Amino acid sequence: MNVVDTVRGLRAARAKLGSVALVPTMGNLHDGHLSLVRQAQAIGHPVAVSIFVNPLQFSPADDFNRYPRTLEEDCEKLRLVGCDLVFAPSPEEMYPSPQSFFVQPAPALADDLEGRARPGFFVGVCTVVLKLFSLVEPSDAIFGKKDYQQLLTIQEMTRQFGLGINIHAGETVREADGLARSSRNGYLSPAERAEAPFLYACLKDAAEQCRRGRTDFPAIEQAAAHALSGRSGWSPEYVVVRDRRTLGMPAAGHPMVVLAAARLGSTRLIDNLEV
Ligand code: PAJ
Repeated sequence: MNVVDTVRGLRAARAKLGSVALVPTMGNLHDGHLSLVRQAQAIGHPVAVSIFVNPLQFSPADDFNRYPRTLEEDCEKLRLVGCDLVFAPSPEEMYPSPQSFFVQPAPALADDLEGRARPGFFVGVCTVVLKLFSLVEPSDAIFGKKDYQQLLTIQEMTRQFGLGINIHAGETVREADGLARSSRNGYLSPAERAEAPFLYACLKDAAEQCRRGRTDFPAIEQAAAHALSGRSGWSPEYVVVRDRRTLGMPAAGHPMVVLAAARLGSTRLIDNLEV
């Protein structure tokens, strides 16, 4: 496995490979990330993983500085799974001069849900992903459904800019008790960790109501948010039923997804479930 931390090193390593499948990450890798790597391998091309905690997608109030950085352990895990190339640049390497050109996604995707909670988040995500795409030149790239809105935003960016990269969706990997794997789970205290699967339980319940044909979506959403705020430690930000392809308002008979974000103590958790 080739590990490079410069653009020059990446270009040299990249030149020796044919088509490449890319898995962009911010590191601190867990089974969710590794399942995307395995999915990328199944495409049949060499697999590149990028590890970069992207400052552009963190707001000043966010956890950029305390975001876990575990490059050695990450590389060990990637070696074991059989990854071919790791690109782990520093912020200075990725942004040698302050980035002043940005990708601005459509407000319908960028200013709703995660974008509303975290202004500028999707501008930062799209900008770094476009840059990673142009540096790595992958034929395929894999993103997790765990970050559903991010996945749809990248799919739409790739389509609208005609990037010609196949975007694949990876299923969410969960702990045995249902909690979606996330680097931020490490911030939870033992008591919070025991409570955290309740978010998934709420999503399952809301999805089940939709599956049974209920169409009073605001009532379903409110019941789920109410269930969360009725328990100690939770501050729900949103629980919504949306159209699976656009994240617009749901319509009965169209595929739907239930999405939620909530703070548990000081840790912000997001999750979703397709109906
Ligand atoms: P990060 O949070 O490290 O996630 C990297 C990829 O792993 C994303 O596509 C995410 O959806 C996926 N992922 C995270 N948890 C998962 C789980 N439990 N099951 C399956 N997939 C999971 O998302 C980012 O980084 C960044 O925004 C990035 C796209 C790299 C741009 O900086």
